[in-house]
Amino acid sequence: MLVPVAVAAVCCAALTAGGRSATTRKWLTFFFDGVPAECPATNAIIAVPSSAENSPASGPVQTSATPPPFYYGHPPFVDQKCTACHEAGLGQGMRKKTPALCFDCHKDFLSAAKVKHQPVEAGDCKSCHDPHQSDQNKKLLLKTGKALCFDCHDDFFEKAKSKHQPAENGDCLACHNPHATDRKKLVNKATPALCWDCHDNFIEKAKFKHDVVEDCNTCHNPHATGESKLLTKIISKLCFDCHEEKDIKAVKGHANAEIKSCVDCHDPHVGTDKNLLKPGKNPAASK
Ligand code: HEC
Ligand code: HEC
Ligand code: HEC
Ligand code: HEC
Ligand code: HEC
Ligand code: HEC
Ligand code: HEC
Ligand code: HEC
Ligand code: HEC
Repeated sequence: MLVPVAVAAVCCAALTAGGRSATTRKWLTFFFDGVPAECPATNAIIAVPSSAENSPASGPVQTSATPPPFYYGHPPFVDQKCTACHEAGLGQGMRKKTPALCFDCHKDFLSAAKVKHQPVEAGDCKSCHDPHQSDQNKKLLLKTGKALCFDCHDDFFEKAKSKHQPAENGDCLACHNPHATDRKKLVNKATPALCWDCHDNFIEKAKFKHDVVEDCNTCHNPHATGESKLLTKIISKLCFDCHEEKDIKAVKGHANAEIKSCVDCHDPHVGTDKNLLKPGKNPAASK
């Protein structure tokens, strides 16, 4: 059975967290014999009446200001199987180190994976999850969306001109696994398959393709950039990463043309002729 010191400590932590104590408290009273009416100043053992919650004063009075009730308790915590994780007896020592501790019950998603998220590999589960409970987020998460990630990563939206909608919306998990995968950068799928989850596959049926079109990330950043259309560079420079200026100048079709904005005439991805010319930009076809 549980040591009262630990119970008092954890209840108190829960009761004070985030100002949502009412819901949490109700939950705690459900599975603990006695939850103190208020947090004591110390973690000293506290004596509490066992049926305080049954008093008529605690009726179902709800105001509209009350946040929507959400509670998820980690089953071993709710079931008071504290010693599934903690050493028996006084103190908060752990039975094992994380992640081994967690993999006593959860499928080991780490050892077989080729790419592991550093904090996960280090067993720092609690940088993202509360091991006990959450009265705010699903999956025991401490934060959701990009806020969770930007706790450790630089916010790449701050100075950006174009922002990729799913990333800006904090849907990082549309493309990344938070723990581990077999692919570099923890992506759920390789590019371009990843992109076709949301964009129409414009390569599939194309007659001619730009040689490098499948490497979307050489021209686009998946999150945000200082250029339009998530481009890694301004177009006038981007194309010259791979094409030689002298070659381009020598092309017949470029004579007398302002060739800085290549995409005025060329589609950067695919085309109906080998020069990837946009409709109406092919002098040969209009003859
Ligand atoms: C699924 C595993 C797990 C279970 C079950 C569990 N704990 Fe914990 N607990 C942890 C982890 C992990 C920490 C964080 C340890 C650290 O900071 O290194 C922790 C920390 C604590 C702390 C320190 C204060 C805090 O909240 O960080 C207390 C007190 C505590 N647990 C009490 C309990 C009690 C009481 C129970 C049973 C009702 C319980 N725990 C059940 C994993 C668990
Ligand atoms: C960088 C943050 C982060 C770290 C560190 C982390 N997780 Fe997670 N974990 C998440 C997110 C985000 C989800 C929600 C995934 C989803 O909703 O698809 C999640 C989900 C889970 C789930 C639920 C899986 C499911 O499919 O429902 C388990 C179990 C889990 N994590 C265990 C762990 C363990 C064990 C560790 C430590 C070894 C850990 N996590 C470390 C972010 C993290
Ligand atoms: C004693 C068994 C046990 C241990 C140890 C354990 N868990 Fe769990 N955990 C469960 C059970 C049971 C569930 C609920 C069933 C499920 O979703 O898999 C769960 C669910 C979860 C969820 C998903 C919650 C959701 O909303 O679906 C996360 C995240 C999680 N555990 C993280 C951890 C982490 C991190 C550790 C290690 C610190 C850990 N668990 C250790 C038994 C355990
Ligand atoms: C507790 C700190 C922490 C949190 C929270 C965190 N990360 Fe990381 N992440 C790291 C560290 C450390 C690295 C490795 C060093 C680096 O590349 O910056 C890393 C690396 C990565 C990488 C590159 C992996 C590789 O193979 O190069 C991706 C992708 C990533 N994180 C995505 C995420 C996403 C998505 C989230 C939110 C769900 C997130 N991170 C939350 C600490 C964190
Ligand atoms: C549309 C898909 C997509 C979304 C949404 C997305 N990412 Fe990425 N992310 C990628 C791809 C693809 C890469 C690899 C880029 C590369 O290899 O050049 C990556 C790389 C990363 C890296 C590693 C960067 C580096 O240079 O090593 C981090 C960190 C990262 N993402 C975090 C996040 C975070 C945080 C979010 C949510 C705010 C997010 N990502 C949303 C697709 C996405
Ligand atoms: C989770 C869904 C999703 C995924 C996955 C996704 N995108 Fe997007 N993307 C969008 C949405 C939504 C928009 C904004 C609406 C639109 O323009 O279609 C967008 C817009 C864009 C834009 C135009 C941005 C602008 O400023 O006009 C580019 C470029 C782009 N995505 C490239 C990619 C690439 C490259 C990948 C694969 C690495 C990818 N997307 C994966 C949802 C996604
Ligand atoms: C050689 C560089 C290059 C590669 C590789 C590339 N793109 Fe683009 N992409 C561009 C340029 C340049 C534009 C802007 C075109 C314009 O403004 O007319 C663009 C625009 C887009 C747009 C926005 C279209 C619109 O009308 O707003 C999407 C979506 C997109 N690319 C997705 C992808 C995907 C997905 C891949 C990989 C399959 C990819 N791109 C590969 C250069 C590239
Ligand atoms: C990452 C390298 C790379 C970038 C960036 C790039 N290209 Fe290409 N491009 C190639 C390669 C490789 C070919 C194949 C033909 C070759 O060897 O020149 C090609 C072929 C072409 C072709 C068709 C010619 C042929 O012989 O098939 C056109 C047109 C073209 N590129 C235009 C552009 C434009 C416009 C841009 C800028 C939006 C651009 N390219 C950016 C690598 C690139
Ligand atoms: C005014 C329209 C126009 C603009 C702007 C333009 N092109 Fe072209 N480009 C053409 C035409 C037309 C052809 C076909 C030429 C031919 O068949 O002789 C061509 C052919 C090409 C080829 C294939 C050359 C070969 O050797 O077969 C490449 C590569 C190319 N352009 C790249 C570029 C780049 C990079 C830019 C921007 C710096 C650019 N183009 C700007 C019209 C244009």
